Amino acid sequence: MRSSANSIEQTGPQPPKLGWFDRVFPMLGRHRLEFLRSQAAMGDITRFRMGPRRVVFINHPDLVRDVLVVNAHKFEKGPVLKRARSLLGDGLLTSEGSFHLRQRRMMQPVFHRSRIAGYADTMSALAEETALKWQPGSVTDIDREMMLLTLRIVGRTLFSADVDDDADDVGRCLTEIVEMFSVLLLPFSSVLEKLPLPHSLRFRRSKATLDRIIFEMIEDRRRSGVDHGDLLSMLLSTRDEDDGSRMSDDQVRDETMTLFLAGHETTANLLSWTWYLLSEHPEADEMLRREIDEVLGDRPASLNDVEHLRFTEAVIAESMRLYPPAWAVGREAVAEHELRENRIAPGTTVLMSPAVMHRDARFWDDADEFRPDRWERISVKEAGSRYIYFPFGAGARRCIGESFAWTEGIIVLATLARRWAPKLVAGHPVEAKPLITLRPKYGLRMTLEPRQAH
Ligand code: HEM
Repeated sequence: MRSSANSIEQTGPQPPKLGWFDRVFPMLGRHRLEFLRSQAAMGDITRFRMGPRRVVFINHPDLVRDVLVVNAHKFEKGPVLKRARSLLGDGLLTSEGSFHLRQRRMMQPVFHRSRIAGYADTMSALAEETALKWQPGSVTDIDREMMLLTLRIVGRTLFSADVDDDADDVGRCLTEIVEMFSVLLLPFSSVLEKLPLPHSLRFRRSKATLDRIIFEMIEDRRRSGVDHGDLLSMLLSTRDEDDGSRMSDDQVRDETMTLFLAGHETTANLLSWTWYLLSEHPEADEMLRREIDEVLGDRPASLNDVEHLRFTEAVIAESMRLYPPAWAVGREAVAEHELRENRIAPGTTVLMSPAVMHRDARFWDDADEFRPDRWERISVKEAGSRYIYFPFGAGARRCIGESFAWTEGIIVLATLARRWAPKLVAGHPVEAKPLITLRPKYGLRMTLEPRQAH
């Protein structure tokens, strides 16, 4: 289990060859991740500019805790999520201050353990449907398969059957929106969005279609008053503990769009990288298979199995260590702050990167190696509390969908791996492309090999 996780990233923090664009906008060019690694090699706190913007990159667990937890009140979301407000409005990911706190309180029950149980049945059923649909020996883009599957899961759990009629439209619009999302990284995206360019027009059309579908569903539900037991019903019925108020239709729309986007692309990337790593590490693959045979025998995974699928969990934890889907977390200072005697002026962007910290040799042995067994010596919780592992962020803005994502990752992986062992097509190039999430740049072409029964 010791071969390298990715030869491209094994080269370590060597300064990439930068063209003029990379030099002026280092976080927009092709070498974003390598650039951050090279910054980390120079120190725990480094500064650079991105056009007119001052950026401070921090790469030490104490500093991450300082910004995300202890002094979180001095920071707002960074520029990328600020720009995402044009799509996500005042949803949980993009809102700030007391409004965010109220929304977070109201959304918490939606992600309560008791609710996850219901979602788990959907995850298992849809993963099994995919397992039965796959054809032995066929070659497929596993990243596309995982996008489709996680989109169906989040669609079904959010809107139960309502979305099935519009599933094609929803899928197409979300795909277009996600593609456009990368344009939000550009410095003049708010201007670009308003120009009549083909991608801006597509973006606006997709957004309008999704809005129409979502508002129609909200209206139907409000009229019928039936509780479908899904996320949308919860959003419509949940009340603020303090004043008993409910969410407005616009707010439900913003949260729905947020959960749709935040909830499928991240998990899809997690699963795609996991298939790639398993395909490259037959020993780990074999151990996974043994565990699945023992725990599941001849049935798909359910919520009760999750706590017994310890190695499956370790594989996922290790996959998110090497390829954290949310590879960078950004904040913008709204008050004066000091980080180890470094003045952070209001307006400064502070960046941190799980993708860099998770491979830092000061905190991880064999940092570039795929070693799921390391999670026998340190738990995910402990690594999180030391801030050396933060795939879901930290502090008050930590991912609300974290247990949803772990449950989904474990159930989907175990259910599919029970029948299938996808193998990377020989010679297919693999490189991480850090957009909003960390995607496989060239996709992942894999051959679907059926598992041999033990
Ligand atoms: C592997 C899967 C996932 C990863 C790696 C991930 C990662 C993250 C990270 C790093 C943040 C914090 C961003 C920041 O601090 O600026 C976040 C926030 C959030 N995530 Fe996730 N996420 C995942 C899955 C999900 C799922 C499945 C959902 C919902 C169904 C979800 C919904 C959200 C929401 C609503 C927030 C904003 C929370 C707040 O600010 O209060 N995520 N996620």
